[in-house]
Amino acid sequence: MLELQGLSKHFGGVRAVDELDITVEKGQIFGLIGPNGSGKSTTVNLICGVFPVTAGSISFEGTEITNTQPHIALANGIARTFQNIRLFSELTVWQNLWVAQNGRESVRSEGFFARWLSGDRRQRASVEEQLEFSGLGDKRDELAGRLAFGEQRRLELARALAARPRLLLLDEPAAGMNLEEVRQLDERLRWLNEQQGITILLVEHVMELVMGITHRIAALNFGRKIAEGSPAEIQQNQAVQEAYLGRSEESGEQGETGGGGARSADGEPS
Ligand SMILES: Nc1ncnc2c1ncn2[C@@H]1O[C@H](COP(=O)(O)OP(=O)(O)O)[C@@H](O)[C@H]1O
Ligand SMILES: [Mg+2]
Repeated sequence: MLELQGLSKHFGGVRAVDELDITVEKGQIFGLIGPNGSGKSTTVNLICGVFPVTAGSISFEGTEITNTQPHIALANGIARTFQNIRLFSELTVWQNLWVAQNGRESVRSEGFFARWLSGDRRQRASVEEQLEFSGLGDKRDELAGRLAFGEQRRLELARALAARPRLLLLDEPAAGMNLEEVRQLDERLRWLNEQQGITILLVEHVMELVMGITHRIAALNFGRKIAEGSPAEIQQNQAVQEAYLGRSEESGEQGETGGGGARSADGEPS
């Protein structure tokens, strides 16, 4: 479904992604792991067309989409969430979901309410569905910026889903979540994958989640793929263990559940 071939992205001298080959099959939950700075977010950004590739190609459902603009990727059926939450904090929960379907101008411009009132029933139903699904129904009129952290994460996922993607790219969705929130996320992702047929590329540090939920995992280090296989294979892989150990000695904060840097800078362009 998604094929990365020889994918590379260099920022000056930094090889953020280096000749990466990855194939995600339709129906999979595919995990992408690696220490901080190993190129995971950059890979997601390349797939979404946030910036142009240095080399290599990306194809989706058999069509080459290399260097496609983000809104085209979305229209093609690829949605994503960000490592650092990005919501319209001055809009309500409901408006954030509506905007995901209709574009920001739909709320800003005059005549929003007129269009909303006469709006496509199916679109409104889809927003309602996402509200219910995310458990944010009673927060619908709350400003997104005033939600608790876990609720913002749920809204971000709901927003990505409002576009009805076939491929969902999640960049550390569990970062900063407590155990109960991780458990709920785990359940939700399984449901999306199994019941809704959505293929998922999951970038994640929370190993309990990745190892339990994914069908296949690729591990990166310094932009290169150092291992690929089943969760069990990856857990036992020598190169993967060394990559994590090596980095934890440097930074002192890379552990099994070391996603605590949720709100720190992640190198994504704004
Ligand atoms: N927009 C950017 N400009 C310059 N360097 C970047 C940019 N984005 C990422 N990098 C660098 O690329 C490398 C990989 O970063 P990233 O993909 O964010 O890693 P990860 O998500 O695995 O933590 C890092 O060295 C990072 O500093
Ligand atoms: Mg990242």
